[in-house]
Amino acid sequence: MSHSDNFFEEVYKNADKDNLVSIPWANLVANVHLVSYLNVKDDMTYGRALVIGCGLGDDADALAKMGYEVDAIDISQTAINMAKERFPTASIDFRVEDIFKLPEFMFGVYDFVFESRTIQSLDPKFRDELIKTISDLVAKDGELLLHANIQDDHENYGGPPWPLYRRELSGFEKHGLKVHQKNEAMITKPVAPYDAVVHYKKQL
Ligand SMILES: C[S@@+](CC[C@H](N)C(=O)[O-])C[C@H]1O[C@@H](n2cnc3c(N)ncnc32)[C@H](O)[C@@H]1O
Repeated sequence: MSHSDNFFEEVYKNADKDNLVSIPWANLVANVHLVSYLNVKDDMTYGRALVIGCGLGDDADALAKMGYEVDAIDISQTAINMAKERFPTASIDFRVEDIFKLPEFMFGVYDFVFESRTIQSLDPKFRDELIKTISDLVAKDGELLLHANIQDDHENYGGPPWPLYRRELSGFEKHGLKVHQKNEAMITKPVAPYDAVVHYKKQL
């Protein structure tokens, strides 16, 4: 059994192709926090980037336009097909991968990893494993930008999606990632009380 039970593939497969924003998380523009990060990035180095759970590809496209060489992965074949069709760019390698079964060659090689709302969409019992996997993908001196809905440690919003607990944001630190900057905002949707963006840097 797959960790996500084909749920995501079904959502993409059954989506109205003339109205892709009907996919609950899709808005057909790059993630606003990623765009802000790229706008204020203070060095001009654009190495290898990875987008986890890339969906329809807008975040990968934003990174490629900045000059990164991008790998963008998703478990859904349909999402990957649509992303390739929307962004037929040589500098993006869109491919089907299961985050739980990534090939060894992907680990420790990315200068920049972007993860937005994939962790919370998977059963919380996999959380420690996911936090370790995502941390291990980042190269020495590389960076992770994490966007997630979060809740306080005493709360229980249930799911799916299952908001991260505040304490879980520091789980990445066990794997060499140090918090460089953290922002959070209150949100109005019933998914979670806060929207968090954490910028980590790897310091081994
Ligand atoms: C809630 S959506 C978020 C999409 C996008 N990152 C965003 O923030 O809009 C979660 C994405 O993760 C993908 N996904 C789910 N399980 C996955 C897995 N095991 N490996 C890779 N991608 C997965 C889904 O297909 C979906 O595109």
